[in-house]
Amino acid sequence: MDQIRRLLLENKAWAQSKVEVDQEYFTKMAKDQNPTYLWIGCADSRVPPSEITNTDPGEMFVHRNIANLAIHTDMNFLTVLQYAVKHLKVPHIIVCGHYNCGGVRAAISTKSLGLVNNWVRNIKDTYFTHKAEINGISGEMNQVNRLVELNVMEQVKNLSHTSIIQKSWLNGNYPIIHGLVYDLNTGLLKTLVKIDGSSEMDPIYKYEF
Ligand code: CO
Repeated sequence: MDQIRRLLLENKAWAQSKVEVDQEYFTKMAKDQNPTYLWIGCADSRVPPSEITNTDPGEMFVHRNIANLAIHTDMNFLTVLQYAVKHLKVPHIIVCGHYNCGGVRAAISTKSLGLVNNWVRNIKDTYFTHKAEINGISGEMNQVNRLVELNVMEQVKNLSHTSIIQKSWLNGNYPIIHGLVYDLNTGLLKTLVKIDGSSEMDPIYKYEF
């Protein structure tokens, strides 16, 4: 079957299945959104956030890019973050990496891969900071997987260093930021780190408002 035709047919069946359970499903959904989570994840097709967390439309605001990066000069990411925190007031932000991430593998290699070189450059810095630990791990896959974890924790820190998050923490203790990693081999998520407004931060990163 035509690949796009398949999608449209599946969509029709899905919409119908929702209406069969609740006639008002889409009219209610169309009114507004009030998501509980902002998900910052990898663009990898094997890590679809709603599917692996069994969440419904309306529950999760989503931003995805290669290797789930939260970069201070990325206007796309910052706009999503500001909208989610300031306007949607999400109580939870999730940074989700996954083992065997191609973006992290690209960062740990010296192969030139085009624009990806620039995009994953920050991960090279994370590798450089933790070089002794990573080089002490046996097996390339294990090294990549440790860097995947360190990269998630780095992005959680990056989030806490934004004025958007710090302003929100000043007004309350939200959002709580969770660093998770997904295992492609088991389908399971694991928590690596969890921080909120009471977590420690080096003073150089703290803004005075
Ligand atoms: Co990935």
